[in-house]
Amino acid sequence: MTRPVTARVPAKVNVQLAVGGLRPDGFHDLANVFLAVGLHDEVTAAPADTLRVTVEGADAGQVPLDHTNLAARAALALAERHGVAPGVHLHIVKDIPVAGGMAGGSADAAGALLACDALWGTGATRAELLEICAALGSDVPFSLVGGAALGRGRGELLTPLETGGTFHWVFAVADGGLSTPAVYRECDRLREASGAGASVADVPDPEPSPALLAALRTGDATALAAAVANDLQPAALSLRPALAGTLRAGADAGALASLVSGSGPTCAFLAKDAEGAQAVAGALAASGTCRTVRITSGPVPGARLVDV
Ligand code: C5P
Repeated sequence: MTRPVTARVPAKVNVQLAVGGLRPDGFHDLANVFLAVGLHDEVTAAPADTLRVTVEGADAGQVPLDHTNLAARAALALAERHGVAPGVHLHIVKDIPVAGGMAGGSADAAGALLACDALWGTGATRAELLEICAALGSDVPFSLVGGAALGRGRGELLTPLETGGTFHWVFAVADGGLSTPAVYRECDRLREASGAGASVADVPDPEPSPALLAALRTGDATALAAAVANDLQPAALSLRPALAGTLRAGADAGALASLVSGSGPTCAFLAKDAEGAQAVAGALAASGTCRTVRITSGPVPGARLVDV
């Protein structure tokens, strides 16, 4: 194909992030319940002589343009596997907060894979795409799959979950990002400091909450709010104490649940309905405790090719 190809990929929020002990390989076993939400990045792959990345959007300046970019690494991985030259211009239109705990980099990787596969005609199977995604990062397979899913292992082993309705969310985007490895390290440090220990021998195996899975299945926002949990939240708050004020502002405005999204620093607020989300968003914007406020809902589908 010589025409540019565009993929659209959603952000995620973790409605449950149960973190097990530190494994010998430096990762943590997780029970990670992902929900894809309607903030999207778009990745366009166009023919080019060499691999090149450009980015547009409010946070574009924070995205690396070299081969450390996850989208570039995705293109290289696919090209290498299929023995094709990685000649492609990847243009990313970024709407997902950068380093925000919403899988923005993972979304770009999944989008680049889908778009390059179509551009180059490599015809990768779904299983192969998922395998490449898992090698690129723990959250990348979910960006491809979307909807709602339980991630086990380091988050890459996915089981799709049934959902019985749409959940309404408000996201408070902070100034500046948080490094995911730094947040996991802080989680380990806090566990060590509490005397409980941080290794797999010290921490109970992470398990999904039956109440949370039932709430997703029935589409019950109030029940979901009672069950959301993020084991990385104390670590994110320890590294960024100001997030406590953001969480409080959303709770005071009537959010059913207030939590840090993944490794943060974006904060997520579950609302009763679309109207409730508007009210929470208005109060958060007025609170001065965050940079930007976004309203959206989920679940939404995972990465897919679109006509532009
Ligand atoms: O897999 P990904 O590249 O997204 O992970 C980034 C970092 O986050 C890892 O290097 C590790 O420090 C931490 N991490 C972890 N346990 C996981 C997933 C990520 O410790 N399950």
